[in-house]
Order: sequence, then C-alpha cells, then structure tokens
Amino acid sequence: MSISITPFPDGIGADVAGVDLANLTPGEVDAIRSAWIAHQVLRFRGQKLNDDALANFSANFGELEGAPIGFKTRTYKTDRPEVTVISNIKIDGEAIGGLGDGEAEWHSDMTYIDMPPDASALYSLEIPASGGDTWFMNMYDAYDALPEAMKAKLQGLTCKHDATRSSDGKLRSGFRETYTREELPGAVHPLVIRHPDSGRKALYLGRRLNAHVMELTPAESDALLDQLWVHVRAHAKTWSQQWRVGDLVMWDNRCTMHRRDSFDPSSRRLMHRTQVRGSTPPAAA
Ligand code: OGA
Ligand code: MN
Repeated sequence: MSISITPFPDGIGADVAGVDLANLTPGEVDAIRSAWIAHQVLRFRGQKLNDDALANFSANFGELEGAPIGFKTRTYKTDRPEVTVISNIKIDGEAIGGLGDGEAEWHSDMTYIDMPPDASALYSLEIPASGGDTWFMNMYDAYDALPEAMKAKLQGLTCKHDATRSSDGKLRSGFRETYTREELPGAVHPLVIRHPDSGRKALYLGRRLNAHVMELTPAESDALLDQLWVHVRAHAKTWSQQWRVGDLVMWDNRCTMHRRDSFDPSSRRLMHRTQVRGSTPPAAA
C-alpha cells in the first residue's frame, strides 16, 4: 500500500488513498501534512477509527482543543474528551451532538475567538440516505478572483466575528438576542490574512451574520460585506463531500469556509469530530 493523493477537479480538496489513519508512518504523516497545506481539504475513505485513533491522528497537526459551546451533552460520551459529536440523534429527547439536521450556512470554525482553530476533522459513523452534504470553499481563490480595486479597498480593514450564534444560526446559551455593534461579543481579524504555511493571501470572512467591518459605518460595512458574499458565492471554487460511513474529512480552517445541506430529520447522522488549536492569530496580509 502506498499513499496516493488525487486533487479533486473542483479547485479545492483532494482524496488521499492507500493509508490507514490508525497506523501511519512518519513519512505518511509528512505527506498528509503537505497535502493538507496544498489542497486545503483532504478526504480519506474507508477508515476504521475509534476515538483514540481519531484523536491520535488529529494530534499530528497540532494540539487538540474542545469544540464550540454546546457540542457535548450529558447523554452521549465519546471515549476521548477531545472528540466531540456532530449529530441530529436524540436520546431521551436530548440532542447528543451539535448542529441538528438543518442547513449550516457558510462559515469558518470559531473565528469569533482570537486564535481560531487551524484545522477541524469530521469522521462519519452514520449518515442519512441523502442530504447532509458538506461543502468547502477555497478562500485563496476567493481572494485572487477579486477585482484589483476591491483588493486595494480591503487593505487594512478588519472585521468583527460574532460569537453569539452557532454555525446553524442558533443563539448560543448565555448570549442575548441583540447587541450594539460595540458590545457584540466576538473577535476582530483582518479581512485578508496571510496563511502562515503557504504564504498565500486568503479572504477571511468567518460568517455573514452580525459581521461588521470596524473601520466603516454600519451601512458601508453591510454594503461591502454583502458585495464580498455575493462574489464568493458566485465565483469561489467549491467542492462538496457526499458522505459514506468511514470517511474522514479534514480541512484547513484558515483558508476555507464550509457549509452543510439540511437532511431528513427522521434519519440519523453521526460524526465524531476533532479540532486543532490555532498556532498563530490570523495575520494581516
Ligand atoms: C463542523 C461543521 C458540518 C457538517 O463540524 O464544524 O460545520 O457537515 N460540520 O456536519
Ligand atoms: Mn463548522
């Protein structure tokens, strides 16, 4: 068995075959790390991973950290504290994991903290017959495809990333429905960042809801962000993952966004998830 890396034709992501993620050689780890930086999202099919193997694999990419608020519940425990759950399954009426069955809008993970995660990984244990696809967007390409005048305009601008909503748009516990711009809990990051490993510039949007550009008036900020979101939805390269049981998908959270399609609430979807702590704060390009 030797490792093979096949980029998807979509302009983001690659399939990695010929490896058992539970038994990697140091050479394979290096090859996977390089492929992750080069292709931004990696998919490994047919993996058999318990929580130890999932956590140990993920730890090759940095220190693991807990998932966003609300991803761990009382009724379902994974075997490792670093492994959390994305699922619509309920036990005794209580969701065992995060994100439910609805659509999750485009976002990068936890950009509302000062050091957002470098990577996240999802490993599928149960999937619905249809729906629940996960989409990834190339944010290097989203930046490169901007008109030069827009690139110049973005220079030096920073954006507040809202901490109060989860990726499915729901209000997290402990937060209010409304805040003023100044009060809104979250983190401020440059709108264009330079990736520490690839050296490339990426558009850094986080998510649309409640985002605002610090240097602009509310009206100017909304106009600019709306324009950027229209641009990325229309022009950025995307790839969608149709899940099979045993797939592991790992993404570089600094240069991608992702979203998820909704799926039939009466079906079951169960993913175990890890997240790699940010190694540096997002730096202006
Ligand atoms: C996540 C996420 C999407 C999905 O785990 O960060 O956004 O497909 N998941 O479940
Ligand atoms: Mn996410």
